[in-house]
Amino acid sequence: MTESQKYLSRTHTCGELNENHTGKKVTLSGWVDRRRDHGGLIFIDLRDRYGKTQLVFNPQRNREMYESAKELKPEYVIAIEGIVQKRPEDALNPNLATGKIEVSAENLQIFNEAKTPPFQITDNNDASEELRLKYRYLDLRRSEMQRNIILRHRLSQVVRNYFNSQNFIEIETPVLMKSTPEGARDFLVPSRLHKGRFYALPQSPQTYKQLLMVAGFDRYFQITRCFRDEDLRADRQPEFTQIDVEMSFVDENAVLAVMENLMSAVYKELFNINLQTPLPRIGYRETITRYGIDRPDLRFGLEIQTVTGLVSGTEFRVFNDAIAGDGVIAGLSVPGGAEFSRKQVDELNRIVQEAGGKGLLPLKVKEGKLQGGAAKFLSETQMQKLTGQFSANEDDLILLAAGETDLTYKVLGVLRTHLGNQLNLIDRSRNELLWVVDFPLLEYDEEEGRYVAMHHPFTSPKPEDIPLMGTDPGAVRARAYDLVLNGTEIAGGSIRIHRRDLQQKMFKLLGIGEEEAKEKFGFLMEAFEYGAPPHGGIAFGFDRLAMILAGRKSIRDVIAFPKTTSAISLMDGAPSSVDEKQLAELGLKIDVPEIEKENE
Ligand code: AMO
Repeated sequence: MTESQKYLSRTHTCGELNENHTGKKVTLSGWVDRRRDHGGLIFIDLRDRYGKTQLVFNPQRNREMYESAKELKPEYVIAIEGIVQKRPEDALNPNLATGKIEVSAENLQIFNEAKTPPFQITDNNDASEELRLKYRYLDLRRSEMQRNIILRHRLSQVVRNYFNSQNFIEIETPVLMKSTPEGARDFLVPSRLHKGRFYALPQSPQTYKQLLMVAGFDRYFQITRCFRDEDLRADRQPEFTQIDVEMSFVDENAVLAVMENLMSAVYKELFNINLQTPLPRIGYRETITRYGIDRPDLRFGLEIQTVTGLVSGTEFRVFNDAIAGDGVIAGLSVPGGAEFSRKQVDELNRIVQEAGGKGLLPLKVKEGKLQGGAAKFLSETQMQKLTGQFSANEDDLILLAAGETDLTYKVLGVLRTHLGNQLNLIDRSRNELLWVVDFPLLEYDEEEGRYVAMHHPFTSPKPEDIPLMGTDPGAVRARAYDLVLNGTEIAGGSIRIHRRDLQQKMFKLLGIGEEEAKEKFGFLMEAFEYGAPPHGGIAFGFDRLAMILAGRKSIRDVIAFPKTTSAISLMDGAPSSVDEKQLAELGLKIDVPEIEKENE
């Protein structure tokens, strides 16, 4: 663009023009998507976030324009003034919203040239994710990424409108807070004004939202960033977003109903789908015994069957050891699995062993009978009952596992998920939402040799189970609930403890002494003494929800600038070292072995 040239200001977007604009003079701005030289004409696809429009440069009309169009390369940023014209019949593009027209160029302005991008800005490119993350601003130009980010935006609007319409108040809570690690590790921020002291970034606004209930705000929500220094996976980021909610004077049913209505609004407004409510609720124990996991994917069957009683009294040591050890014998039946090759069955065994199990006992259903190592220990009646319980048909394969209860269900859960994927059993057109309820309050951490909270230490036990806190803590059930969508936990919450005495009891069970509790959570305990209402809430993993709604497998695809699974930002190089002066101001000294520094 030369100084003397008049700035061409766009009149339309690249996704907007159609036959009705024929003959109109328009100005478009955007990026050169593609250039084709064809039959003495130059065609340019011009792209912006609204779509693409074809530009045509005709030497007969404007030789100078035609010559300058030859300079245009992909990703140049230009403005074009021209006349909308109908495309010839044989050049219509039904796949493009603007596919019936083109703009015949009369005036071109080049705002900026562009280097050849490191990968093509198209949906089906084979660039590695590393490269895409390094040049994220280019990756985000691709229409599929734009769709994801726009869907995320629409989702947050639906959420805000919904909560606003339900009398919830959006309140921001601090990002610099007191370190109270429980669950994941905290990210720490050193204080310059108070050398040697640290803020922590919130793993969630849990304590603040409870304090807002004590403050009388009654119905709170926030779409907020949370930070957790934990091992990452496809659905976990070190910083992620929650839809955080808390309500006063409610029980589980009230919280669940508000969330079901939120999900209904989301499906209705984003996809015009009517969600069936109330959603199913399954108890924790039941989901473990049926699906081997507390976030079951209900888009396919392959349910686990427990057959401990049915196969008792045999001579088979594997069964008898499991029974003697208070364990279980359970399994699942794979349709057509009797045709699996030896190698395929070995692979399933390997998966089960990798998950910590001993292995599988395969039983083929052949000519109405069972075949396999364990079969010879089973009577005719046992075989019949077994096939009956699994509803197994000819050529199915029953895969049994025997051993310690929790582990056996867990490995079968892993196997079920694997088979669901491998055999393409998952109906991806379905949206399967369910509540998992009645979680245990505590789980025993072998490493730490103590009970830890299954959700967090503020979760209330069921009133009828409170007496068990002193006698059988592992059996106490929590007033907690998780929302599961297609096998992913998208939200979790609970009714909270709102009395100091019960909270103290809970801390004691978790091995947090009185002094430590006071030092870490004294402010909350104190607040409970100034009139705390009964309250409860929930938090959605906003990125996870957006990921599933966008039909993606990784939350990185719905986050504009995500980190890798090793918590690095490939684009700007965070985390990075800082200079000595910054460290000195904070009163910090770095003490890492040379080798780690070299690896930076
Ligand atoms: P919880 O720890 O279950 O509960 O978190 C709520 C939801 O947040 C999502 N989530 C994550 N998403 C991406 N990356 C992560 N690292 C990550 N960790 C969690 C999950 C999860 O269901 N304060 C409580 C909520 C409450 O009790 O109200 C809490 O944070 O989808």
